This record gives sequence, structure tokens and C-alpha cells, in this order.
Amino acid sequence: MSLSDFAYQKCISANCGATFGIDEVLIACAQCGDLLDVVYDWEKSQPPSSLKSFEKHWQRRDDPLRFSGVWRFYELLPFPTTDAVVSIGEGQTVLQTADGLAPYVGVDPGRLFLQYEGLNPSGSFKDNGMSAAFTHARAVGARRAACASTGNTSASLAMYCAATRLMKALIFIGSGKISYGKLSQALDYGALTVQITGDFDDAMMRVKEVCQSLGIYLVNSVNPFRLEGQKTIMYRVLEALNWDPPDWIVVPGGNLGNSSAFGKAFAELLEIGLIDRVPRLAVINAAGANTLYELFERRKVRWQASQGNTSAECDYYRELDAAGQKAQTIASAIEINRPVNFRKCLRALDVCDGVVREVTDQEILDAKAQVGTAGLGCEPASAASVAGAKRLREEGIIASSDRVVCILTGHMLKDPTATMAYHTTDQDEFNRVLGSRGVRRASFANRAVAVPNDLDEIIKAIQLYS
Ligand code: F0G
Repeated sequence: MSLSDFAYQKCISANCGATFGIDEVLIACAQCGDLLDVVYDWEKSQPPSSLKSFEKHWQRRDDPLRFSGVWRFYELLPFPTTDAVVSIGEGQTVLQTADGLAPYVGVDPGRLFLQYEGLNPSGSFKDNGMSAAFTHARAVGARRAACASTGNTSASLAMYCAATRLMKALIFIGSGKISYGKLSQALDYGALTVQITGDFDDAMMRVKEVCQSLGIYLVNSVNPFRLEGQKTIMYRVLEALNWDPPDWIVVPGGNLGNSSAFGKAFAELLEIGLIDRVPRLAVINAAGANTLYELFERRKVRWQASQGNTSAECDYYRELDAAGQKAQTIASAIEINRPVNFRKCLRALDVCDGVVREVTDQEILDAKAQVGTAGLGCEPASAASVAGAKRLREEGIIASSDRVVCILTGHMLKDPTATMAYHTTDQDEFNRVLGSRGVRRASFANRAVAVPNDLDEIIKAIQLYS
């Protein structure tokens, strides 16, 4: 059980380009501090010559390697040997045509698709990446794994630890900053849960220090192996579209791991010659946590292969600190001001001719309610993608005939507090949870009808409201 000999780690900065062994545990380049990629020698690893050839793996569902929605694309992330793979059946997710939601977004019937990553074992897309990070962690002999989290990474880590018994989980969360659905998962799965005063950005800085001093394996998306697993979300989207890339991928942006992974997936598919066209990428920030939007759209910071983006980033963080400004949004999963994958995301935007938008909590909650009425539902952060697609359509950047894929990153049951506050008849509850965040209306609320326990009254109410 080991790691393959055609993969290595490489600094993303062209000035540096330092390389490291695949068995090294690093969260930044040991020479210049920039982010790291997992890189493959495709000549040696010999990936298939057409994406269509992945379809045959469906016939081998008795093999855990091919059952997993991550590892059935093993040839596109071949950093472990096949016997080293850790899987709990992640990635059994679907792309669905969303005609019920298409009029809301403003695209033609048959052109809007939702990728339901909430259908993963722990209820979010994180399991794609966790399976890959766990595979690496086990191969390098890690016994403890840690993360800072807005809730989903921690739920995923805790689940992989509980289900595989390979490692013990240590999670850092900002106190009061994660939804009960997610916190309850981590507690039930038995993770050591450290609630620190502060928010995700504070927790992220601390967990890095703790991992360094205690030699604990860090599974946040600064870990390049996490992103290898998340590339497969794009492979499944392509698979569902008969390997024909859509016009747009729209994804919420928090720590910017997903968007970075998607860009890497498409860049590699181009490089290997498995696609000849990449979709455009739209990354959607919440307006109260909009670092990427501010830097990319307002200050026009662009990808520079040599390490050249960090000064704009640092200047902005200094401004935030001076103003005492913290991230604030009902979409707690993306309540992040210091996205660790900022540079990789700029690279993804470059590869995919990307755009960035910010959407308000009002837009996010309205879009979430519409996603619910149209299908399987999602948590607030995920709905940012739909709200963002609607915005881009209104601006004419997305055309009504474009094929648009919105990534729904987390399950609807992750954050029942936000959902209930939107649909409540209790104005105080609405004001407490949502009004305090600038949400004024619940235009798509579906309020429960209170009736006495009396047959005639019940029938009357049904006739009145149906
Ligand atoms: N959507 C959901 C449901 C998330 O949980 C996250 C991130 C994102 C979107 C943003 O993704 O970081 O790749 O840009 N959640 C992390 C966590 C930060 O700790 O669970 P990203």
C-alpha cells in the first residue's frame, strides 16, 4: 500500500517551481510559502485516450475503487497505488436537469442543471476531497487529522475517522459560527471539537499552528490532495452531459478549494487532450464575505504565475483588520474573509475565462427557497450559485440558451435554522435570524397552517389554501 511513482508535488509559483515528493506532508511550498499542486507525469501514467472509456467502470460496481464517484476516475488522480485508496462510497451524486428552476434563473428549458453534491455520505461535496486526503494521510502513516471548519469539512473529517477508524479527528470551529446540523454530525461521530473564540479565519490560522507543533495531518483545502478528489465533481458533470462541456459552471466561493480544483481539472483534461474546450467559471461570494469579488472584480487582481498576487491580498487584509471588519453572512459555510486558495482560484479564473459576483443574503435565501420547490434542496451557501447565475443572466453575461451547471455543495438539512426562519410565521424569529442580516422579505415562504384539531376546520383550511 503506497503512493505512485508518477506523481509529485510542485509549487504553483513559476518563479519558484520547487518540487517535493508525493510522500511529503506539506501545506505550503517549503521554499517560498506559495501553494502546492499535485502534478502527474502523464507520459508515464498513461491516462485513457477518451473520457468515454470511463463509462465501462460502471459495470464493476462490486469493486470499491470503481463504485466510488471519486475513484472511478482513478486514472485522472493517480497519486496512490490502487490498493491504498480509502473510500466510503463518496461521490454518488447526480446532475439533474432543473426545468422547474430555469424560469427563475432566466434560462431556456433544458439548459439549467443542478449538481447535487449534498447527496454525499456526510451531506456535502467535502467527501470527494476527504477521501483523497485520507488516502494520502493513511499512506504517510498519519494517526490524527485536523481541520478548521465552517462545519462541512469537520463533519466530513469526523465521518471518515468514525467510518474507517484509521485516524482520530480534531476539529476547530469558530464559536457560534456553524449550523447545528453540521455541529451535531461532528459530535455524534466522536470528533474532538474545539470551539475557539473567533471566526473561521481565526480558527484556520490556529489549526495550522497546532498541526505544525503537534505533527497532526491537516485536511483543509490548503492540502493539495483534498483538491485532487474535488476535481472529480467536474468529471461527473461531464459524464452526465455525455462528455460535452457545458457553457458555465457556477460555484459558491468560500475558501476557494472547489473553484481551484475545477480549474485544475479542466486544465489537465485540456493538457491530456481529453477535452478541447473548457466551460466558463463563475465563482459566487456572499456579499458579506466577498474578498474574491473585491480583489478580482473591483481591484482587477489577476493570476500571475510568478508569485505576484500576495501583496494585493495582504493589503486588503490589513484594511479589513484596520476597519475591524469580519465576514458576515447567513450562508455560514462561506463566511470567510481570508480564502486560503486565493491564488489557485485566480489561476482557475484565468484557465476558465471566469467571472466573480457577490450576492446578498436576501438573494441567497430566495434562491434557496426556489431550489427547494424545484427539487432536492440545498443549504444557504449552495444557493449562492443559483442566485449568482440569475444575476449573470440579468446582466446578459449568461445567455438564455447557455447550458448552465450550478453546483449545490451541501444538503438542505445542514441548516434547518435558516430554512425555518425563512418560512416562519413568527416575526420575532424572522427578525432574530434573518432581519439582523438585512433580509427584509421571504417572497417564497411556505408557511405552516395552524388549525384546531377539528375535522371541519381542517377540511376548510385545506380548501382555503390549496
Ligand atoms: N458550500 C458549502 C456547503 C461549504 O461547506 C463550503 C465550504 C463552500 C460552499 C465553499 O467552498 O471553500 O471550496 O470555496 N466549507 C468549508 C468548511 C470552508 O469548513 O466546511 P470552498
